[in-house]
Amino acid sequence: MIRFERVSKVYPDGTSAVDGLSFEVHEGELVTLVGPSGCGKTTTMMMVNRLIEPTSGRILVDGEDIASLDPVKLRRRIGYVIQQVGLFPHRTVLDNTATVPALVGWKRAKARARAAELLDLVGLDPKVFGSRYPAQLSGGQRQRVGVARALAADPPVLLMDEPFGAVDPVVRERLQNEFLSLQATVRKTVLLVTHDIEEAVRMGDRMAVYGEGRIEQFDTPAAVLGAPATPYVAQFVGADRGLKRLSVTTVEEADLEQPPLARLDEVAEVAAARLREAGARWAVVLNTSGELHGWVSTEELSLSGTPATVADLARRMEAWVPVGAPLKQAFSEMLQYDAGWVAVLDGSHFAGVLTPAKLHEALRRSVDADAQGVGRDEVEFDSVADA
Ligand SMILES: Nc1ncnc2c1ncn2[C@@H]1O[C@H](COP(=O)(O)OP(=O)(O)O)[C@@H](O)[C@H]1O
Ligand SMILES: [Mg+2]
Repeated sequence: MIRFERVSKVYPDGTSAVDGLSFEVHEGELVTLVGPSGCGKTTTMMMVNRLIEPTSGRILVDGEDIASLDPVKLRRRIGYVIQQVGLFPHRTVLDNTATVPALVGWKRAKARARAAELLDLVGLDPKVFGSRYPAQLSGGQRQRVGVARALAADPPVLLMDEPFGAVDPVVRERLQNEFLSLQATVRKTVLLVTHDIEEAVRMGDRMAVYGEGRIEQFDTPAAVLGAPATPYVAQFVGADRGLKRLSVTTVEEADLEQPPLARLDEVAEVAAARLREAGARWAVVLNTSGELHGWVSTEELSLSGTPATVADLARRMEAWVPVGAPLKQAFSEMLQYDAGWVAVLDGSHFAGVLTPAKLHEALRRSVDADAQGVGRDEVEFDSVADA
């Protein structure tokens, strides 16, 4: 969808900003460009919508050499989100969002209807926020308007330059997550620039790690963290990359243990006998549809006597994650609820439990899968097991 072929940019003052860039971003893919300030990320991005022209090499969008296209028409196919947001201060949020559709000739009513839809999509009620002015919004809300505006004309390509840079870490993480779920629906081809390695890892299907004016590694976050291609990348992603992998490795069915089970409507004494027989000190409790209810201890079941059912003694289980959640989420649930394990659900169905040992195993599996060429002792995950 976006293809760089040996692209270089030397500014008129002789500064070589990027040198011989070649990479490809597939349709519907989100690629993060990450690296320290001044390494050429913004230059790379602005060459895609021709706000900057390359010195040599060529860039193709959807198979077309963009040098041969009318820049204005090109930009209509490319949404652009920047850190400073760049909203018009004297226009309402709704009119700001409708800017591009209006520019490309949509009727006013249609453009505004579309803008309202987009505001809704980014979590801003158009009835509440549509008539406000940018100065009447928080930083996070302004960023959302920036995203809504970039999406308004439904461009297939989205360029985002440090889009969440101007907000505090808590809001940033919320905006990142919101954007990811939005992206799961709209499936744009996205280039996202950041200097924040955590953001690059969390957001990218793949990531390009920049050294000075060059890409040092272009791969999935898991591969970059698991097998940094160069000492520079290893240093850039940090010594705690084993921990970072928790964010990009997901909980799979194969990682789960099947604990002893009891059903809500079982007679307590019967369940107790069965669990004692199996040597189980506790059981996960499911309702009659196989959904997670909680857990119960064998001892309490044994002491309860005949009329009681499992339902009378079971406790709710708060620590759970869906299949496919990042290991990090499972780990943080364990810590938050001080639980020795966390339940894993497939839809509403109980799929099994993840224990710390299994979590460690899953992490090791993912490291092994990616770490060809990297010595085992270079891969740090022990800190996770000890935690
Ligand atoms: N208009 C310009 N004229 C000269 N040098 C520039 C210009 N814009 C950027 N640069 C230089 O090009 C290099 C890359 O800049 P940039 O692409 O903005 O990096 P990043 O976005 O990674 O921080 C830097 O050394 C920067 O100073
Ligand atoms: Mg920049």
